[in-house]
Amino acid sequence: MEKKIEQLIGEMTLEEKASLCSGMNKWKTESIDRLNIPSIIMTDGPHGVRKAVNEDDFGAHGVDDNEKATGFPTASALASSWDRELLSEIGQALGKESKALDVSILLGPGVNMKRSPLGGRNFEYYSEDPYLAGEIGTAYVKGLQGEGVGACVKHFACNNQEFERMSISSEVDERALREIYLPAFEKIVKEANPWSIMAAYNKVNGIHATENPLLLDILRKEWGYNGVVMSDWGAVNNRVMALKAGLDLEMPGASPANDKKIVEAVKSGELDESILDETVKRNLSILFKALESTKEVETIDFNKHHELARKAAVNSMILLKNEDRTLPLDSNTLKSMAVIGELAVEPRIQGGGSSKVNTTQVDIPLDKISENMGDNVSVNFARGYDLNRDYKDEKLIIEAVEVAKSCEIVVLFMGLPDLIESEGYDRKHMNIPENQVLLLNEIAKVNKKIVVVLNNGSAVTMGSWIKNAKALLEGWLTGQGSGSAVADILFGKANPCGKLTETYPLKLEHNPSYLNFPGVDGKVKYEEGIFIGYRYYDKRKIDVMYPFGHGLSYTEFEYSNLNVSKNELEDTEELIIEAEIKNVGSVEGAEIIQLYVRDKESRLIRPEKELKGFEKVFLKQGESKKVIFKLRKRDFSYFDPSKNYWIMETGEFDILLGSSLSDIRLEETINVISTDKIEINLTGDSPVSEWLMEEKSREIFFEFLDKVRDRVENSLQSENAEMVLGMPLKKVMYFDTELASNSEEIIKNMIKKVNS
Ligand code: GLC
Repeated sequence: MEKKIEQLIGEMTLEEKASLCSGMNKWKTESIDRLNIPSIIMTDGPHGVRKAVNEDDFGAHGVDDNEKATGFPTASALASSWDRELLSEIGQALGKESKALDVSILLGPGVNMKRSPLGGRNFEYYSEDPYLAGEIGTAYVKGLQGEGVGACVKHFACNNQEFERMSISSEVDERALREIYLPAFEKIVKEANPWSIMAAYNKVNGIHATENPLLLDILRKEWGYNGVVMSDWGAVNNRVMALKAGLDLEMPGASPANDKKIVEAVKSGELDESILDETVKRNLSILFKALESTKEVETIDFNKHHELARKAAVNSMILLKNEDRTLPLDSNTLKSMAVIGELAVEPRIQGGGSSKVNTTQVDIPLDKISENMGDNVSVNFARGYDLNRDYKDEKLIIEAVEVAKSCEIVVLFMGLPDLIESEGYDRKHMNIPENQVLLLNEIAKVNKKIVVVLNNGSAVTMGSWIKNAKALLEGWLTGQGSGSAVADILFGKANPCGKLTETYPLKLEHNPSYLNFPGVDGKVKYEEGIFIGYRYYDKRKIDVMYPFGHGLSYTEFEYSNLNVSKNELEDTEELIIEAEIKNVGSVEGAEIIQLYVRDKESRLIRPEKELKGFEKVFLKQGESKKVIFKLRKRDFSYFDPSKNYWIMETGEFDILLGSSLSDIRLEETINVISTDKIEINLTGDSPVSEWLMEEKSREIFFEFLDKVRDRVENSLQSENAEMVLGMPLKKVMYFDTELASNSEEIIKNMIKKVNS
């Protein structure tokens, strides 16, 4: 293929080369008939294949402009499964459906961090934790690309809000960039080699993502990525700058004006043709990869894919609360049930915007619940509220309360409408619509047995109503199979096993981004640095409604026999961690064991602990399994911006295994020996503490300041210790007139000696 591409480029005119740097239309790459270069089709994802019926139409005007496709759970739901195998299975199914629609690249997954719970596309993203997002995204990409369809990991980078998304600049420090906002992309690039990456609409530190140095310096040079970087639709700012920065493909096409600018830039010498050739080479590579890898196109078994969607929904839902073991319901003994809420008959199964697919079928919760109940049970429905208009409809409330009064148990569906959370705009608050809360509180006056099923794409606050829910199932936006999944879980046909991948705070105001969201005057400052999500609440010891990693089961699990392969770990070695998990309850179920690492002491401030591994095990009652984790140097390291590299500090680390961030079951402390030198660049402004840190510089310090050695050593034994330790070297010189009089000379010699 390489040779063929080189040869083709050799035959191309400058205009033909430039034409390949933008799409033919909204969804296709450019073709060159003269050279038998065809075009290929790409389209959204990421939760289903959204292919516009009319190829040059955005197809976003309601779902019926798009071809039929299976609607899988959205990202926030799928990530809650913590199930790599499941994500891979879904990637495969999406690959098959893509090929059946002649789609060669599926625009997903979206792996941006959930910096604020208000982000309008949080339903489309995996987590507030980069490790988890990277693992889940890698599984999805491997599954998809294994079918010969390319992924397009998006949106690179720091695209964490919808407000002014095409112009806002995410102002983010280097450490947060490296430790929080880039790692999910890094993991997927290094482990799944995605065919393409999508550069985001926003700016990063003032420079458009489509022409940002991140593309060349980090994505290409540091991570070695040689796939295609395409723009988000309409995200290109300056085409020639973008091309120089490594942006290969402007979407959508056609873009003759920009193609012309490329030609002119080469002719004027502004753009070296060799750079253009590199871009064309990458664009042709993805094209030929697509043409070669379209394995035989199977006819899609949509029922099989629907069953997969349903299985995914079951594995993504989270049992957040289950007071007095209200769930599962027993359809044999139950005599009457009220099912209340518009969402029970018109479920919200996906989010608004470019990811919305034209589903092949939708399971309706009320129908599936009724099917589960024997004929001897009356299931009574009441709409209760109008989802799309947050006003208090007395009539609907009275009617619902009447129904609730006469039934043994109430299953109330609550959630958010597209009007509140969608691509294109952020939420203004985290509340469930007032009319639904009012309804719940009215029902609670006549019936205490209330199960709430949530239908939302991102975290909501529940302080004003959670007390009235005996049980709470987070149903997310779980695709076309969600209706049957809810019924399966409510009646115990399936044991819920999902866990939170984003913290549910008590209040929006507790969220670390609250004071800096969504930004002003074209900038949004990521002042919280690395402390997003649980990293913040955990470090600050702020209570939350439900912590990261939380999720209940109908059974219980016991953790035992934690064993680490080494208690003294060299940084070149791998640490192997093993433990035993047993199902000690009465039904089979799945447990997600989370591995956290705590750096007990470090030069730079670090989170209390960070997720560095997870395994999901399915266990029959009484069954136990061993889980194994492997950690390497990077898992213990932080990014030191003053040194511009990752560093692991020698010292003690805690290894923690838990059922959630706040439910640690086993822990072990190990000692890590790092060969990383914390090179302190010592100067006259460096504090005494830094001069005394290493043996060599300490000796030099006292050698040159022998005249004040006693004074310094006495101070360090006194209450002045802190003050002296923080004193710059050049100030210590004033302890003695002779030292002070030629301090510059002395300091110069000290630095020369310490650096020799
Ligand atoms: C949208 C989205 C992007 C999508 C693209 C094509 O604006 O930002 O995720 O893939 O345009 O629809």
